[in-house]
This record gives sequence, structure tokens and C-alpha cells, in this order.
Amino acid sequence: MEDLGIFIGRFHPVWVHLPIGFLVLAVLLKGYVTLRKKPTLGDAVSFSLLLGVGSSLVAAVLGLLLSRSGGYEGELLDFHLAAGWVTVLLSALAWWTDRQQKRFCPALNYALLAGMMVSLVLTGHFGGSLTHGEDFLTAYAPFAPGGGESSGRVLASIEEAEVFGDVVQPILKRKCQSCHRAGKSKAGLDMSSYESLLKGGEGGPVILPSDAEKSELIRRVMLPEDHEDFMPAEGKKPLTAEEIQLITWWIAEGNTDPKILLSEADEDLIAWARPQLNIQGEEVPEVARIDTLQLRALEQMGFRIRVLSIETGALDVVLPEGRTQGQAAGLLEALMPIKDQIWWLSLAGTGVGDAEMGLTAQFSNLQRLRIENNPVTDAGISELRVLSRLEVLNLNGTAVNSQGLEAVAEIKSLKALYLWNTSVNPANEQVAKMRAREVKVVFGS
Ligand code: HEC
Repeated sequence: MEDLGIFIGRFHPVWVHLPIGFLVLAVLLKGYVTLRKKPTLGDAVSFSLLLGVGSSLVAAVLGLLLSRSGGYEGELLDFHLAAGWVTVLLSALAWWTDRQQKRFCPALNYALLAGMMVSLVLTGHFGGSLTHGEDFLTAYAPFAPGGGESSGRVLASIEEAEVFGDVVQPILKRKCQSCHRAGKSKAGLDMSSYESLLKGGEGGPVILPSDAEKSELIRRVMLPEDHEDFMPAEGKKPLTAEEIQLITWWIAEGNTDPKILLSEADEDLIAWARPQLNIQGEEVPEVARIDTLQLRALEQMGFRIRVLSIETGALDVVLPEGRTQGQAAGLLEALMPIKDQIWWLSLAGTGVGDAEMGLTAQFSNLQRLRIENNPVTDAGISELRVLSRLEVLNLNGTAVNSQGLEAVAEIKSLKALYLWNTSVNPANEQVAKMRAREVKVVFGS
């Protein structure tokens, strides 16, 4: 029976559009009838009002069933429920005074219609805030308060970063708070503040200081994804291995201290968290300004060069296929003076081999590297493990294999890896590991 109630209640968010339509139509018709003096249409007004009364009554009952299913509570829900019933009541009175025009003065009917519209708008607004969050309407408005807490505070240096406020809370906000926040706390668990998180949910505390393994929160995110207790629920984006590791560290070693500093954590975790922090003047690596003459000279040698960002001087450099004639090493040497400015580099099909990979690995700001269709093997690819900003790596048509992949897997910044036409087995262990941390590994068809 309870399940049936929840099932029916879930139609509430769809159904509510019906009374809104009828009631707004009634008010528009009323205006038309009055201003254009078309009394013959008067029946249409009362008919759409009647439909509005009936359908809003149904909506209110569905809403009541939905609210019983839990997960919605707090002031917003109370306001929404109250405003909903007021709308039902006012629309019924508006209908009645419209039917009995001889007994009531028109002003009363107009006032009721106006009141009904106000409560309709308020009901909708509170309802929308319940499902989408309180700032749903204004989040993108030109007058919305800029930034807000989600963008994170600006830190003068990484030493200031606090594990909870600067790293853990943003993770929970992104991945859990759509269901666990004030006003919509599934299982009574509200993660919007440190205090409410520590308080836990219906099943008691979800975090046990110093005992990560026994903490319900950690248990839930570590379960297999198809387990019914797995969190986040409903197929929402799961936590990554690093996110879990960091929260676990905070509970276990940090003793859930809200003020414990990130600098106390393991080096690996710090390195992982660093790019997510808002550290003053640290977002972009320092690079020299573009020297136009130097670029001209390189273009004369056959390079295609494009400025990616005037502000940072970042460059996209392509060494065209077939232009190298065995000179690839010499050409790469020519790039050395501007190597820190090169963020994207393509050496695709240029005949570079393992010997050139050592040079390539010196382009330490590389974010994208294309070395597809070259006779590079694991020995050369292993050199690339030092490229700590690399996000996209194209190894299509190279002789890469397990050992090279092991090196590539060490690049923590990697987001996409291309492996068409290679002898790598899609079931390779390293591939699985990278996929687990959300690296896109593409094999082609
Ligand atoms: C799509 C909605 C949704 C999201 C997103 C979500 N949860 Fe939940 N969560 C639920 C529901 C529903 C329950 C209650 C049912 C249950 O216990 O499985 C729950 C219960 C829990 C509980 C048990 C609380 C108690 O006291 O019983 C924990 C712990 C939890 N969630 C943690 C998380 C964490 C951590 C995240 C983010 C990684 C998360 N949830 C994201 C819907 C969600």
C-alpha cells in the first residue's frame, strides 16, 4: 500500500502543470470577457475554473502522497504544502463567486482571482525550489550573487587549504547534495554543512572519526555499483577512486577534523587535489611572451604554429607529416627554446621513434600530444610518464603495449587515451585501471 502511494505520488510533478494551465486560462478568459464585454463566454470562465479546482485538488493529494515518501522536509515543504492548499481554496471560492454573480459583487471575484494567481505562483516557486534547489531560478540570472560558495575560496597558497572545506565539501556538493541537503535530505542525511554531516541520517552517524572502514558513508560508496545500498543512488556519477581515498584519509588520519590541512595528507593526494583548488595566480603555468620573430623562423622550418591563448602565450605546434625526412630529432631540438609554451604538440606520422621520445618528454607543459602512426615502442612511451599536465594522448598505430601503458597510467592528469590499431588488448589491466579513474580509453571499432 505504501509503495502504491509513493508510485502515485510521483506523478505530482507532472500533474501540477494541469491546474496551472486551467487556472491561468480562466483568468485570461475572465479578462477577455470583462474587457471585450462578451458575456456569452462567461460559461467558459467558470468551466475552466472548475477544471482548475478539480485538478488542483488532485495535485494537492498527489503532493501529500509524495511528501509522505520522505526525502522532502523542512520549511520549504511546509510553505509549498500551505500555498498549495490555499490555491485550491481560493480557486474554489473564485469559481463559486463567479457562478453566483448575482449574490456577490464583481470586485470580490476579482480579488479572489488575483489572490489565487499569487498563491499559484508561490506554490510553483516553493515546489520548484524543493526539487531543483533554492537558487534554481536565480542561479544564472544577471543579478545573481557572483561565484558563491561552490566556486571555492581563493587561497594564498596550498598550505592554507583545508581538507574538509576546500576538497571534501566540494566533492559532496557535486555528487551527493542533490539528494542530501537541507530541505531534501534522503534518509534524513543533510550534507550541506560539517555539523549536519556529522549528525548523520536515520541510521545514525554516517562518519565515525578515525574509523573510515566502519563509516556508513565510506561503506556505501565502496560497494559495487549495482548494489542496492550503493551511493550516489539512481545511477548518478560515482565518486572516483581518488575522491574516496581523500575522504577516507580525512576520516581516518585527519580524525574528521574540519580544520586539518591538506598539507598533512600524502603527497599523491595533495598532487591530485591541487588543480581543484583556487590558489591565487596558480591556474596557469608561467610562460614567456610570444616572440613573433622566433615563431616565423620555426614556421620557415616547416612547423605549423597556432596561438592558443594570447594571455598565456600557449601554442599549438604541428610538425606536418612527410616534411621531416628523417630530421625529426633536429626539428624537435629547434623547438626547445619555446618548449614551455607548447601546450599542444602533434608529431603524428612524422617518423619519430623511441629516440625522440626523450626530447618530447621535456615539453613539460604539454596538455595534448599526438604521436600516432609512428614506430614508437614501449621503451620510448615510458619516457612520457613525466608529462604531468598531459590530458590527451594519441597512440593510435604505434607499437605500444602493456609496459608502455603502465607508464602512461602514471600520468594522473590524463583524460583521454587513443589506442586504435595497436596490439593492446581492451581487457588489459592498465586500461581497466585508467577507465576506473574516468580516463576515456578509445580503441576504435
Ligand atoms: C539520487 C539521489 C541520491 C544521491 C545523489 C545520493 N544519495 Fe545517498 N541516499 C539516497 C536515498 C534515497 C537514501 C535512502 C535509501 C537508502 O538508505 O539506500 C540514501 C541514503 C544514504 C545514506 C544512509 C543514511 C542513513 O542514515 O541511513 C548514506 C550514508 C548516503 N546516502 C550517502 C551518500 C553519498 C556519500 C552520496 C554522494 C556520493 C549520496 N548518498 C548521494 C539518495 C541519494
